[in-house]
Amino acid sequence: MLKRVVWAAAALLAASAALAQEEGPQLLHAGNDINNIDSLQRGARDFMNYCSGCHSLKYLRYNRMAKDLKIPEAELKANLMFNTEKVFDGINSSMPADSEKWFGKQPPDLSLIARSKSPDYIYSFLHGFYADPTRLWGVNNLYLPNAAMPHVLAPLQGLQKPVFSNEPDAQGSAKMVLAGVELMTPGQLKPEEYDAFVRDITNFLDYAGEPVKAKRESMGVFVTLFLLVFFAFAYLLKKEYWKDVH
Ligand code: HEC
Repeated sequence: MLKRVVWAAAALLAASAALAQEEGPQLLHAGNDINNIDSLQRGARDFMNYCSGCHSLKYLRYNRMAKDLKIPEAELKANLMFNTEKVFDGINSSMPADSEKWFGKQPPDLSLIARSKSPDYIYSFLHGFYADPTRLWGVNNLYLPNAAMPHVLAPLQGLQKPVFSNEPDAQGSAKMVLAGVELMTPGQLKPEEYDAFVRDITNFLDYAGEPVKAKRESMGVFVTLFLLVFFAFAYLLKKEYWKDVH
C-alpha cells in the first residue's frame, strides 16, 4: 500500500516537473512599483522613444497619461507625442496596418500585456534576447521562442549568447537544451543600469493597464448597486404580496 502511494507521489512529481518545463524558463523578478512617479515618467519617455514606433497603447490616452504621471502639457506635446496631434487620442504606433509582412507578425497593442502576461514576464522578455543567426533579425528570445521582435534595445544592453546544457531526454540519451543567456558583447549601459531601464518601461506598461482596470471596477460597482436596489424592490414586493396571507 505504502509503496503504491510513494509511486503515485513520484509520478505526480514527475508530471508537475514536466509541466513546469513546458511553461518555459523561470521568470526574473521585475520589482517595479506603479506608485513611483519618477520611474513611470522615465518609462513613458523610453517607451515613446524605443517602443511606440511599433507598439500602440490604444486604451491609454495622452492626456490621461499626462495627468496621472504629472507631465505638463507643453512637455507632453514637445517630447512624448510623435504619432498624433491630439492629446485626447489613444497612444498609436507609427506602424502601418500591414506591417505584418515585415515581421511575420503584427506588433501587438501593449495596453493589456502586463495583465495578460505579468510585469515579471515583460521584464524577463526584455532580458531574454540572444544571438541566433538562423532568425530573421539575428536574435531569438529565451522567454518567447522564435519571437518576431528585433532586439531594439541591443545598443543599450549589448548582445547575449545562448548557454546550452546537456540534459537526458525521456529515453535517457543526452540532449542539448537552452539553459540561459550570458552577455557576449557589452552595450552602452552597465547590466544594473539596463535592469533599471527595463524596470522603468515595465513599470510604465504595468501602469498602462490601470486605466482599463479602473473602468472595469466602476462597472462592477454599478452592477452591485443595481443588484442592491433590485433586491430592495423585490423584498418590498414580497412583503406586499404576503401581507394578507398571514
Ligand atoms: C521594430 C518593431 C518593434 C519595436 C520597436 C518593439 N517591438 Fe515589441 N514586438 C514586435 C513584434 C513584431 C512582436 C511580436 C512578437 C511575436 O509574437 O513573435 C513584439 C512583441 C512584443 C511583446 C509581446 C511578447 C509576447 O509574449 O507576446 C512585448 C511585451 C513587447 N514586444 C515589448 C516591447 C517593448 C517594451 C519595446 C520597447 C523597448 C518593443 N517591444 C519594441 C516589434 C517591435
